[in-house]
Amino acid sequence: MTQAPVQKGSVRFDAVEKRFGSVVAIRSLSFDIEPGTLVTLLGPSGCGKTTTLRMLAGLEQPTAGRILIGGRDVTNLPANERDVSMVFQSYALFPHMTVGENVAYGLRSGGSSKREAMERGKDGLALVGLEGFAERLPSELSGGQQQRVAVARALVLEPQVLLLDEPLSNLDARLRRHVRTEIRELQQRLGFTAVYVTHDQEEALAVSDRIIVMQAGEIAQAGTPRELYETPASSFIADFIGEANVVPCEVARRADGGLEARLGGLRHPIRMPTAREGAAKLAIRPNAITLGEPGPDRLDGRVTSAAYLGDHIEYEVETTHGRLFVVDSAIENVRPVASDIGIGLHERGVALIPA
Ligand SMILES: Nc1ncnc2c1ncn2[C@@H]1O[C@H](COP(=O)(O)OP(=O)(O)O)[C@@H](O)[C@H]1O
Ligand SMILES: [Mg+2]
Repeated sequence: MTQAPVQKGSVRFDAVEKRFGSVVAIRSLSFDIEPGTLVTLLGPSGCGKTTTLRMLAGLEQPTAGRILIGGRDVTNLPANERDVSMVFQSYALFPHMTVGENVAYGLRSGGSSKREAMERGKDGLALVGLEGFAERLPSELSGGQQQRVAVARALVLEPQVLLLDEPLSNLDARLRRHVRTEIRELQQRLGFTAVYVTHDQEEALAVSDRIIVMQAGEIAQAGTPRELYETPASSFIADFIGEANVVPCEVARRADGGLEARLGGLRHPIRMPTAREGAAKLAIRPNAITLGEPGPDRLDGRVTSAAYLGDHIEYEVETTHGRLFVVDSAIENVRPVASDIGIGLHERGVALIPA
């Protein structure tokens, strides 16, 4: 009999369910994570991200289903036998220990000698650009530096999988962008598997190989950042990943056999192989809309608000298909409020959402 090769760093959730009493936190979750990739669990607060991560870490027990790490069934293993380590939102550094002692702590409790633990701890600090900080106390570091200590402390254990739960949420906006880039660079350089939790779609797009979008304890859609942005499977995804105007349309066949979406006089080619004729919706990115003169091949609209924002103008436009939010980079040509306009669409930034 041949066995499937065991891939160090792979993760599998197989029909995992989690209830807290009568609350169903996770309905039935199945997914695979390839070794060496960074996969993000993304979704609104309460959708089950932390519960999923804690089940992977062994801090919660699934009610049903199986969890595999590196091909091994770990469902019933305690946290310290799973070969994962977690970076918490709050960093959870020990305030009375030096930075070096914090990073060495897990190695010490894993049985390493003090000398070895401190040596490897130093290497860990170097990885995150904090060599020379070993003697300081956590309180003597900035928030961003403390977060890097927490990452170093998790990485020195050389886990198969690094788990990060909203690791940037205690940092200010400017630092967040910087630290997320550092985490991604480190992950790509060292090639470890990471499961990253956030409710911030921009952060997810920026750091991930793949994103699993969760909604009420289930997967709403999973894919690469580009797949989710360009081919959202539902209105929820279209509006959650980036911003979108979701409007009703009619899909009809053209004379040449191809499909097109119709909105008023406007026609937009549909290339999605699974598309069918009939009622559907279009998800239109705010910057995929062009504003011009009214005409027979356009959707009629009237400007209800216009705001100049330096490098673009934001409009709200009332149409027979609903109100549209428009981001227009043509700042030299401002459309005044109450003017009648004809709406067109760019080729990109428009996705069909099947009915
Ligand atoms: N220990 C718990 N006891 C009861 N309900 C819980 C517990 N932990 C989480 N939940 C519930 O499970 C759902 C998912 O929570 P959580 O995984 O923390 O969501 P997220 O991290 O996406 O914000 C929520 O409805 C939450 O109230
Ligand atoms: Mg959470």
